[in-house]
Amino acid sequence: MYNFNFYNPTQIFFGKDRLNELSKVIPEGVKVLILFGGGSVVRFGTLEKVKSALPNRTLFEFGGIEPNPHYETLMNAVDMVKKLDVEFLLAVGGGSVIDGTKFVSLASTCSKSDSLTLLFKGFGAVPQIKAIPFGTVLTLPATGSEMNAGAVISYGDSKFVVMSPLTYPKFSFLDPSLTFTLPATQIANGVVDAFVHVIEQYVTYPVAGAFQDNTAEGILKNLIEIGKKTIDNPMDYDLRANLVWNATMALNGLIGSGVPQDWSTHMIGHELTAHFGIDHAKSLAIVLPSLWEIRKDKKRDKLMQFAERVWGITEINDDIKINLAISKTRDFFESLGIKTRLSDYGIKAEDIEKVINGLKSKGFTGLSESKDLTLEISRKILENAL
Ligand code: NZQ
Ligand code: ZN
Repeated sequence: MYNFNFYNPTQIFFGKDRLNELSKVIPEGVKVLILFGGGSVVRFGTLEKVKSALPNRTLFEFGGIEPNPHYETLMNAVDMVKKLDVEFLLAVGGGSVIDGTKFVSLASTCSKSDSLTLLFKGFGAVPQIKAIPFGTVLTLPATGSEMNAGAVISYGDSKFVVMSPLTYPKFSFLDPSLTFTLPATQIANGVVDAFVHVIEQYVTYPVAGAFQDNTAEGILKNLIEIGKKTIDNPMDYDLRANLVWNATMALNGLIGSGVPQDWSTHMIGHELTAHFGIDHAKSLAIVLPSLWEIRKDKKRDKLMQFAERVWGITEINDDIKINLAISKTRDFFESLGIKTRLSDYGIKAEDIEKVINGLKSKGFTGLSESKDLTLEISRKILENAL
């Protein structure tokens, strides 16, 4: 196992009917900006519940944060924070709203040009930056953003990852019943995104991380067990509670500490979202099976472990074992209603160049746990995914 630091300060309030406890964690008298998306929290009453849980605070609202949140939209929220001297931010929504709020939290403490440096070059490039404290009320289990410090922000036809030790939420309210209103396609997205987060931290190469491996395998098996059932039983509290908690645990630093991490499926997937508007999770479902088909020799030991311990495949022949694990994973995504081929989304061979250029412009020429996934290999993965 590698050396590691583990730090995660986010306080979790898990369970039904707990929004009234927001008043315990947002002090009286402060100016709060509530940030939300395109209106689901208005339509389904969550915004109203949040507001009535916060008497004696000055509340402002910023709605309209889109999926794959855009820099320009977020900078309008930054203007509001600066103009109104907002002291606390509260994200009410899914990963896009939470990620957007993280960016607003940082960008509100620096100049506009520094906010662009933050986006393009990362947190370390703006030394004087601070962060406005923020909390979250989660409405979509998927990204783990409610308990991690990362944010993915769109600018033009690119997506940038911003990470900082200052952008862990102070708290997150995870009420599974707030997610009952999700359409089936978003539930499926959540299952697949959480699944691939675990995979990025697990199907690499072995370093004797027994806790990390067993926990990763546990989350994967849980997601396989509850994924379809959650879609088919959208009002089942226990299923939803398990989806929420597994998704949070999939990307909060726990299973990734002390082990190699890949993230090439995400980096290639981000380009598919940025250029073709494919949902984040759907982009991952396209890239992952194809990436494994191309890179199975690199990941041989862990793919065999995944085949045996997650899928229970007992074939004697190792190649058959690995191929079966890949096809079972593809079938799992498809069983949730998520298509796994580029052509299913109308993308053709001639479109692949845009993705390769996007990766090239960001310097993603050596992706993966072994840093040897070149642009040529990315191209093969995409061609194989057509
Ligand atoms: O905008 P509204 O009207 O709220 O509707 C949203 C949106 O259209 C809707 N929705 C959310 N909660 C709902 C609901 N509809 C009905 N009932 C509810 N309870 O769902 C749609 C999608 O929301 P979004 O927040 O975009 O989805 P998700 O949580 O999947 O977030 C995706 C974003 O997170 C980034 C992705 O790149 C993408 O930008 N990621 C963030 C990560 C992180 N911070 O660690 C890691 C991930 O790998 C990912 O990259
Ligand atoms: Zn993801």
